[in-house]
Amino acid sequence: MSASERASAKVPTGVAGLDEMLGGGFPHGHVVLVTGLPGTGKTCLGLQFLLAGAAAGEKGVFLSLEEDLPQLLDSARQFRWPVDAAVEQGTLKVVRLDPRETRQSLHRVQGELGKELSGLGAQRIVVDSVSLLNMLSDDEPSRRSTLFSLAGACRQAGATTLLTAEADPLHPEVSRDGLSEYVSDGVLLLGYSTGPDGHRVGLALRILKMRRTAHARTVQPYSIGPTGITVDAKAVDFGGA
Ligand SMILES: Nc1ncnc2c1ncn2[C@@H]1O[C@H](COP(=O)(O)OP(=O)(O)O)[C@@H](O)[C@H]1O
Ligand SMILES: [Mg+2]
Repeated sequence: MSASERASAKVPTGVAGLDEMLGGGFPHGHVVLVTGLPGTGKTCLGLQFLLAGAAAGEKGVFLSLEEDLPQLLDSARQFRWPVDAAVEQGTLKVVRLDPRETRQSLHRVQGELGKELSGLGAQRIVVDSVSLLNMLSDDEPSRRSTLFSLAGACRQAGATTLLTAEADPLHPEVSRDGLSEYVSDGVLLLGYSTGPDGHRVGLALRILKMRRTAHARTVQPYSIGPTGITVDAKAVDFGGA
């Protein structure tokens, strides 16, 4: 693939309706932020994205700060995804960054991670979550530097990347740290839709930004069911503002 072909290639997300909203998938090489309140399916989307790659023989790395390997595998097995086969075949690798080992974890992200990810041949990367990564730093300059290093490491590996982040509970359209948006080429917002009385009635997603891509700007309902995330992309509107 030439550089220009690579730049315009799309990486299927593993969610048919979302691919439709994106005109085929995430642009190859993008770092995409997935923001949402707890329980909106960020971890699930990350796993689904990697397993879609694994099904096509692509290597994926799940960099986990929140859940350890057995918990993650259990979540994926619940959706009846062939996660054990992917691990066995080497198309899925879970790398655990233990937030309790603060100094080592930060050192790894700011140092060797790019080489590690390239060495693993990762074509798809998920970091779950940058919110926890950010909690390891004491101040904003250090958080910013860690985030830039992380995004740089993923780009250096030549992979397409999802970073998950907790949404700010008071302003759920932005990440709690307010920084992750700036290192990302795209932002996908997962949220609760509310009824007229303010109660949560369902889930809905929106693409807030996706550099170099014509994408839907509508709010689309989605659900988390026995096979993972499904987006209802009917009536997708590519006009947008
Ligand atoms: N096997 C399953 N079947 C249906 N829904 C599930 C299943 N597993 C998890 N969920 C739903 O997904 C939600 C958690 O998704 P998760 O990806 O962990 O969210 P987040 O990472 O955003 O906190 C749960 O609250 C539940 O509603
Ligand atoms: Mg999660």
